[in-house]
Amino acid sequence: MSPSGEATAGRDEPRKKGIATADTLVAGCVAYVTKDGEPRRATILGIRETKSGRQWYANFDSFNKRLDEWVPQARINFDKEVEWPNPEKDKPKDPKSKKTTAATSKKSQPSKKNQKRVSKREQSVASEGQTPHPWTEYVENGQHKDKNQETEEKSMGSLEVGGTPGVLGPDEMEIDEDETPAGAAKKDSLGPFSRQQEIEKLRTSGSMTQNPAEVSRIRNISQVEFGRYVLFPWYFSPYPEVFSQEESIFICEFCLSYYADMKSFSRHRQKCTLQHPPGNEIYRDDFVSFFEIDGRRQRTWCRNLCLLSKMFLDHKTLYYDVDPFLFYVMTTRDERGCHLIGYFSKEKESTDGYNVACILTLPQYQRKGYGRLLIQFSYELSKIEGKLGSPEKPLSDLGLLSYRQYWSENIIDLLLGFSERDEKCTIETIAQHLAMTATDVEHTLQALKMQVYHKGEHKIVLSDKLVEQRAKSRAKQKRLIDPERIQWKPPVFTASSRTWGW
Ligand code: ACO
Ligand code: ZN
Repeated sequence: MSPSGEATAGRDEPRKKGIATADTLVAGCVAYVTKDGEPRRATILGIRETKSGRQWYANFDSFNKRLDEWVPQARINFDKEVEWPNPEKDKPKDPKSKKTTAATSKKSQPSKKNQKRVSKREQSVASEGQTPHPWTEYVENGQHKDKNQETEEKSMGSLEVGGTPGVLGPDEMEIDEDETPAGAAKKDSLGPFSRQQEIEKLRTSGSMTQNPAEVSRIRNISQVEFGRYVLFPWYFSPYPEVFSQEESIFICEFCLSYYADMKSFSRHRQKCTLQHPPGNEIYRDDFVSFFEIDGRRQRTWCRNLCLLSKMFLDHKTLYYDVDPFLFYVMTTRDERGCHLIGYFSKEKESTDGYNVACILTLPQYQRKGYGRLLIQFSYELSKIEGKLGSPEKPLSDLGLLSYRQYWSENIIDLLLGFSERDEKCTIETIAQHLAMTATDVEHTLQALKMQVYHKGEHKIVLSDKLVEQRAKSRAKQKRLIDPERIQWKPPVFTASSRTWGW
């Protein structure tokens, strides 16, 4: 592992080298593979046979895991020696043992006591062996599709809404108590952050793959048809194993149920009546709406959301235990309904003071300012709660860039207005005004080089350059959340409604 957490192929120990052929190049080998016209060192993570021939899954050295790809023989340099796998270290995982874990029944699921001991990070990183993947169970007994439909129909029964999309109103949804899991793609900016470095890091960083086991995970879904869009997943997501054999899978953009074939998806679409996320609309302006959804009350929908988001979130996502979380889902509206743009999840009670667990803008909406709206919304909720919030760590590469930008912009805007305020400007006052933690304020001030020590005193300085840069970025910024329009009171939960549902 490099400091950035990237998978650096076979650097640990010297490996045996030799000439490989298409038949001997196995998972765990390190070979030279052409990427963007350049030969690149890559670890082979998997092999598959396709209609057009054999393909190898390449994880490129110093490239973000998002850029892993299936490559044909022609892109592999067989004239150059490859590094053979280190027999012990690179032993490919036995798919059977994985299945056993994945198909674990309730009996072998962690006991409640053990679950308690699972760290928070692990709760939200549902990694192999920790979280049962009951979907696999269905695949294995060949009943996946039926179960999927059955569960989905059942939940749809309770999700039926009809009427005008996104009408402000009480949460009409019934608690989804079903224990069965859900059917079963620029910048000039603020401050002396080096943009180039940051963007270079985007390409090269390991996308904070903190868990080495995750490195070996191969992107399993090639393409997703989702409403009007075709999505190209970045990372592995634990959809049923049979789904990985499909060229494209289908996800209903409203109820988020997933289908491996067009026929069953079309049948589903004829029946699906959902036109907006199954919760209360707590915010609406001319542009977007926000819905609040309780993971416990809408388990199926929230699990489906997590499965969808896992395709774009590498480091952490919960996809099974959604009970302790609330989901704040942002949509756009048109005559057909409210279309998912992105969301953030939030623990019902965070002992670490986090106001966001996971945050995502669907790729078709990224780099359009929606991430800012999601982040702003999370801080507006913290203001209403009278708390200081911070996103759960670690942040992804894109998460860090977006948060830094949000923090910088907001601190500078606040300071620009400060001269009119009769208040001493300190880290604490900034934190209070923005519902940010003092640590986040301080780190941002340091990164922007806004803190100086002058005549024995720490001072916050705002340079003309920063002011100028902010004026430019503000001119580009189109949208903001209007806090006045938020119709929300901090929900109160009993202990039982925060806990695991088993
Ligand atoms: N390259 C460079 N800068 C970027 C990039 C990028 N690809 N993406 C965001 N930024 C920075 C920019 O400064 C941008 O402002 P600008 O466009 O004015 O220059 C700022 O972040 C905000 O950009 P938005 O368009 O508002 O953000 P977006 O809608 O793209 O959403 C998000 C950001 C949610 C992080 C998105 O990239 C995403 O969903 N990524 C995949 C999932 C992920 O990594 N989530 C965060 C995990 S951390 C956590 O969950 C707590
Ligand atoms: Zn549907």
